[in-house]
Amino acid sequence: MQYKQLSAFPEKFLWGASISAYQAEGAYQEDGKQPSIIDKYQHTEGVANFEFASDFYHHYKEDIQLFKELGLKAFRFSIAWTRIMDIENNKTNQKGIAFYHQVIDECLNQGIEPIVTMYHFDLPYFLEEQGGWLNRETIDYFVDYVQVLFAEYGDKVNYWLTINEQNTMILHPGAIGLPPSGELPSKKELFQINHHVLLAQAKVIHLYHQLKLKGKIGPAINLTAMYQATSSPEDAIAAHNWETLRGWSFLDAAVRGKYNYLFENYLNDRGLYPKIEAEDQAILSSGKPDFIAINYYSTATIAASKNDGSDVSARAGDQQIMLGEEGVYRAAENPYVDKTPYGWVVDPTGLRLTLRKLYDRYDLPILITENGYGAPDIVEEDGRINDQDRIDYLAKHILAIQEALTDGVDVFGYLPWSAIDVVSTHQGFNKRYGFIYVDRTDEGLKELKRMKKESFFWYQKVIARNGLA
Ligand code: BG6
Repeated sequence: MQYKQLSAFPEKFLWGASISAYQAEGAYQEDGKQPSIIDKYQHTEGVANFEFASDFYHHYKEDIQLFKELGLKAFRFSIAWTRIMDIENNKTNQKGIAFYHQVIDECLNQGIEPIVTMYHFDLPYFLEEQGGWLNRETIDYFVDYVQVLFAEYGDKVNYWLTINEQNTMILHPGAIGLPPSGELPSKKELFQINHHVLLAQAKVIHLYHQLKLKGKIGPAINLTAMYQATSSPEDAIAAHNWETLRGWSFLDAAVRGKYNYLFENYLNDRGLYPKIEAEDQAILSSGKPDFIAINYYSTATIAASKNDGSDVSARAGDQQIMLGEEGVYRAAENPYVDKTPYGWVVDPTGLRLTLRKLYDRYDLPILITENGYGAPDIVEEDGRINDQDRIDYLAKHILAIQEALTDGVDVFGYLPWSAIDVVSTHQGFNKRYGFIYVDRTDEGLKELKRMKKESFFWYQKVIARNGLA
C-alpha cells in the first residue's frame, strides 16, 4: 500500500535501545552473583568473554547518563536471575537486588522508562545441574524469582518482558553455548523444555495481573515473516510450515493459551509431543499478555523440503545456527535483499510485513525490543566511528515502522539492539551493534572507554524530531 502521506509517530512513542545482563554486565562473580549456564558453557566462536562483557555493572551510571544525552525515552535491560537469587542456599541476594534498584532509579532520574526482561538466556547453573528447564520444578523456581522482582520493582517498572526469544532457545539452542558435556538436549527434550517455559511464562503473567500492578507484561519473541522461494505451491506450504513452527507456535501458546494446530500435529507425527499435566491447559490460558514484544533482524526465504537428507545446512558464515528440516522446509536465497557483513539478510519491508501479520493475528499492541546491525566498527585516527551502514539499516527500518503505523498497526516503541556494544551471543565482541562504542576487543579488555558513534548523533536527532523527517 502506498499512501499520500505517512502518519507521524505517536507522541509518546518509546524510542529506546536494548541490552541483556549477561552480554553487558560482566562482574560475573561479584556481590554474590551465582553462576549461570553462560558462565559454565563452552562458547566456541569469538571469545568466551562474558566474564567482563562491557562492564555495565560498574559503568551503569555513566552509560545511563549517555542514554539521557542520546535522548532515549526507554531502556531495555534484563535482570540476571543469578544476581537476585541464591537458590542453593534458599535466599535472596540483597546486593544484586540493590544493583537493579540503582539501575532503575538512575533511569527514572534521567526520565528514561526502564523496560525489564526477566529472563534472557541465563539460567542459574544450580538449576541446570538439576535438569534445567527440562525439570518441571524449574517453573516454581522461576515464579519465586519473579515474585521477588514484582515485590522489589513492581511499583517502578511499567513494562515487563517475560522470556527473551523462547524460540531461539528451543530451535537454535547452540546460539547460547554448549553445556560442559558438549551435548545439547534432544529434540524431544527441547519441546518438553518449551512446554515448561510456556507454563512459567503464563504463571508470571497471571501473577502480575492478580497483583494488579500498574504496568504491562508480555513475551519477547524473535519474529520474522517468511517468503516462499518461488510461486510453487510446495514452497508456499513450506514457508507456512516454518513461519508457524518458528514463530506462531510460540505466540499462539502465549497469547491464545493453546498449542497451534499445525505445531501439535507436527509434534505428534514425529513423536516429539511433550508430557502435559492435567492442569496445564488452565495454566496456559490464565496468562494473557498485554502486548507482544518482537525482536526483528531479518526475513527468511523458504523452499520445499527435498526430504533426501540434504535439507539441513548451516546459516551463511555461522556454524552454530542450523537451518532446514527434513520434511518441513529448506532455506533458500532471496535475490532481492542485502546482507550484513555477518551474512544476515537486511529487509526493512520484511519488518512492515512481520508487523502487519502479527497485528492481524493477535490485535495486541507491539513493542519492537530488538533490531540492529552487527558489524566490526573501526575507530578512525581522529576518534570518529563512522557506522554509516548501521545508520542506513536503522533508518530504513524506522521508515518501515512508520509505514506499518500508517497501515494501522499499533506499534508503541522501538528499542534497537544495542544501546552500547555488548558481547554477541556466539560471535564475540567484534561483532558490534551499539550506538556507543565500548573500547575492548575479543583479544583484550583495554580501557572499556565509552565512545559515541556517528549513529549516536544520528539517532539523537531522530528521537528529538520524533521520527526521520
Ligand atoms: C537476539 C538476542 O537474538 O539477537 C540477543 O536476543 C543477541 O541476545 C542479538 O545478541 C544479536 O545476535 P548475535 O548472535 O549477533 O549476538
